[in-house]
Amino acid sequence: MPTTIQDLRTWKQEGRRFAMLTCYDFPTAQILDEAGIPVLLVGDSVANNILGYDTTIPVTMEEMLHHTRAVVRGARNPLIVGDLPFLSYQASIEEGIRNAGRFLKAGTHAVKLEGWFPELTEALTARGIPVMGHLGLTPQFVHALGGYRVQGRTDEAAHRILEHAVGLDKAGAFALVLEGIPAELGRAITEAVSVPTIGIGAGPYCDGQVLVITDMLGLGGGKYPKFAKQYANLRAEITRAVQAYARDVEAGTFPDEEHSYH
Ligand code: KIV
Repeated sequence: MPTTIQDLRTWKQEGRRFAMLTCYDFPTAQILDEAGIPVLLVGDSVANNILGYDTTIPVTMEEMLHHTRAVVRGARNPLIVGDLPFLSYQASIEEGIRNAGRFLKAGTHAVKLEGWFPELTEALTARGIPVMGHLGLTPQFVHALGGYRVQGRTDEAAHRILEHAVGLDKAGAFALVLEGIPAELGRAITEAVSVPTIGIGAGPYCDGQVLVITDMLGLGGGKYPKFAKQYANLRAEITRAVQAYARDVEAGTFPDEEHSYH
């Protein structure tokens, strides 16, 4: 059964936790759908995890839509959320509406946007474009934040994030990603808002959790953030497989009889 934004709200009321994963391509979308992952995020983290950029800042709407269409073709049941990239919604509400609409036309069910944009959240919601908010460590603000640092460590900063969460809930957001904040703040926000919170480095009390797929599968080449639990080491597995293939070719043992035509 396809997941809807109403399901997420019901799950919060029932105390049922759920998993979201980022997804950037067709085969992974098929696998995540078959595995029963209810929510997929075509994250702007495609920038650093797939496209080789240093941050999420350079990724464009065209690049995001290219990956979005592949995910949409692969996933039938998950709720698919498109991540509005840097400068696709910050300049004006009108531009935000147009770019968010392009995600829905590409097949997503909702969009996500980083930071405190209550008017835009309200404008999108009023036009039938469901919005997932994203507060705390918002990677599009990396330069303003002075790096990827945990947010909300002081009382004042925690209070501001809590206020923004309540504000986005009032503005109509259907869910909130909370990234890189203390677990206690994750809990306080989860209790204060009516919509599901989805944590990433925000502790165990959120209604849902999200991880970046390349992190949790162990595909990344660099250092993983503390919160990114690795459930597999695909980088090592891929290295093993391609080296075995190269050895077979060099030794003349591939292709063998089984893999040849006559
Ligand atoms: O783009 C992304 O991967 C995200 C998650 C960290 C939530 O926004």
